Amino acid sequence: LHDPTFSATLIGWQKQHGRHTLPWQNTRDGYLVWLSEIMLQQTQVAAVLGYYARFLERFPTVHALAAAPVEDVMAQWSGLGYYTRARNLHKCAQRVVAEYGGVFPADPALLAELPGIGRSTAAAIAAFASGTRAAIMDGNVKRVFARVFGIDTYPGERRTEEAMWRRAEALLPDRDIEAYTQGLMDLGATLCTRSSPDCHRCPMQPRCVAYATGRVNELPVRKPK
Ligand code: ADE
Repeated sequence: LHDPTFSATLIGWQKQHGRHTLPWQNTRDGYLVWLSEIMLQQTQVAAVLGYYARFLERFPTVHALAAAPVEDVMAQWSGLGYYTRARNLHKCAQRVVAEYGGVFPADPALLAELPGIGRSTAAAIAAFASGTRAAIMDGNVKRVFARVFGIDTYPGERRTEEAMWRRAEALLPDRDIEAYTQGLMDLGATLCTRSSPDCHRCPMQPRCVAYATGRVNELPVRKPK
């Protein structure tokens, strides 16, 4: 499972061709990183951009967010959808202020105990805000892994997901965790897309099992009925 050439290839590609100017990049402020990762959980980048900017104007710090009435938080979130995220966001801000003095922890295990932060979001926040070596696993990463490694069982199935997590942990680089993590997100969002993958530009093409076997459009397999 261990293969340092995977991360080296991805990091090189991310530095040259990945996204570097999103408003939540180029910062190690845990609040800015956390807010972006929560907004991006179920919403595309293009839809998040305006909300992110307006939200930070109204709540510039985790202290401001924690002290605000929940109704104000809901009003700022209105239109983004999945409103449980906004309620958890407010609760999480209050706990980070009360338990951590307003500083998000660097340990993904501690982050994952906070409301609205699952294992993958915890890893992303820890990687971007603290440089912590931790594995992410969202829908985009599952699609990239299913194709590159030729995984032909359903990623929503527990055994497949567990195997993907093990692989994700084994592939982590020893350095450049930010570029690596962003590279996985960028590859899934810009090249290894669900319905129109751009294999011609993909840095993983020479090692992609799905490409080699003509199964890019069959992987990942859809939910079995
Ligand atoms: N989706 C989830 N996290 C993201 C990030 N940091 N940048 C771009 N898209 C994302």
